[in-house]
Amino acid sequence: MKDLLDIRDLRVNFMTEAGIARAVDGIDVSIAPGQTLAIVGESGCGKSVTSRAIMGLIQPPGWIEGGEIWFAARQGPTDLAQLPPNGRQINAIRGSEITMIFQEPMTALNPVLKIGAQIMEPLLLHEKISKSEAKERAIASLAAVGISSPGQRFDEYPHNLSGGMRQRAMIAMALVCNPSLLIADEPTTALDVTIQAQVLDLMKDLRRDFSGAIMFITHDLGVVATMADHVMVMYRGKVVERAAVRDLYRHPLHPYTQGLLRSVPSIAGRGAKRLATIEGSVPRPTERIRGCAFAPRCPHAMPVCKQDTPALAPVQQDHRAACFLHHAVAEEQAHAA
Ligand SMILES: Nc1ncnc2c1ncn2[C@@H]1O[C@H](COP(=O)(O)OP(=O)(O)OP(=O)(O)O)[C@@H](O)[C@H]1O
Ligand code: SF4
Ligand SMILES: [Mg+2]
Repeated sequence: MKDLLDIRDLRVNFMTEAGIARAVDGIDVSIAPGQTLAIVGESGCGKSVTSRAIMGLIQPPGWIEGGEIWFAARQGPTDLAQLPPNGRQINAIRGSEITMIFQEPMTALNPVLKIGAQIMEPLLLHEKISKSEAKERAIASLAAVGISSPGQRFDEYPHNLSGGMRQRAMIAMALVCNPSLLIADEPTTALDVTIQAQVLDLMKDLRRDFSGAIMFITHDLGVVATMADHVMVMYRGKVVERAAVRDLYRHPLHPYTQGLLRSVPSIAGRGAKRLATIEGSVPRPTERIRGCAFAPRCPHAMPVCKQDTPALAPVQQDHRAACFLHHAVAEEQAHAA
């Protein structure tokens, strides 16, 4: 297996009072070793559910309806979708080979345990090392995320740290076992603007120093340009566009991506008279939809869009979009190949 992660036709459902919610509705995702992939989309598009499925954290009322999540684990290629939640195999991978940082650090940190003990925990659990070696690595990890006096912080509790420092401690915990995949789910959204910028800078440094792959989830296309190699845009449980960052910014193909880009202040530019917003909202995942889910909000919708569902197809090399506006091009290229 050449990719680190290769998700095929993943479908994740939740049972709700309004019926079955198709939170993730047949997505393919691949990440090469060391690559940074950003997943972008409005609230409710299925970004977090995708990351939870990779971590083996889908619990009732949710379930994996179908598909495969191939991960190049140390023990060999493993389909994470087949592993029982909280079984031995997923527990060996989660927290060491695949780790996650969350929006709110207190969801990952235990308020009654000292920071040092929490950072040592995954090391002692997953690696056969002594306590003193674990302490050394934990302190090195705190230093690597820019925490000053790491030896002193080691003995403090989460409430002794500021919000930004807690976020750094959580990142130190996620990195201490040197994972091959780090998932960052909106790691800066809950922070104030100054701290946000600092944590983003830290994430950029990590990209340089950390050899693993990063899945960076955000609803803000503005931060993606400096963070990621590739971008995947999700809309209502599906991938609607995927491309290298530069291609996506220069030639966004899907009307949804175009709308998202027009609503980013730093990208729309100062010349933009008024920042555009995409009118309407993401359809609920319990709604049955015929055709393209974006059609009710799309300025280019055609009759075919309300009847058939556009597949994610290559339009240019390494640039895929799920939109009928581009299918003629895709078909032409398929014939020429
Ligand atoms: N435990 C649950 N029970 C029912 N529905 C759920 C549950 N968890 C997620 N969902 C539904 O799945 C859909 C996708 O949710 P998800 O959390 O992946 O969105 P998201 O893209 O991460 O959004 P946000 O930007 O707000 O974090 C949403 O419509 C949500 O309501
Ligand atoms: S398939 Fe049609 S409705 Fe959907 S994004 Fe493309 S043009 Fe718009
Ligand atoms: Mg989310």
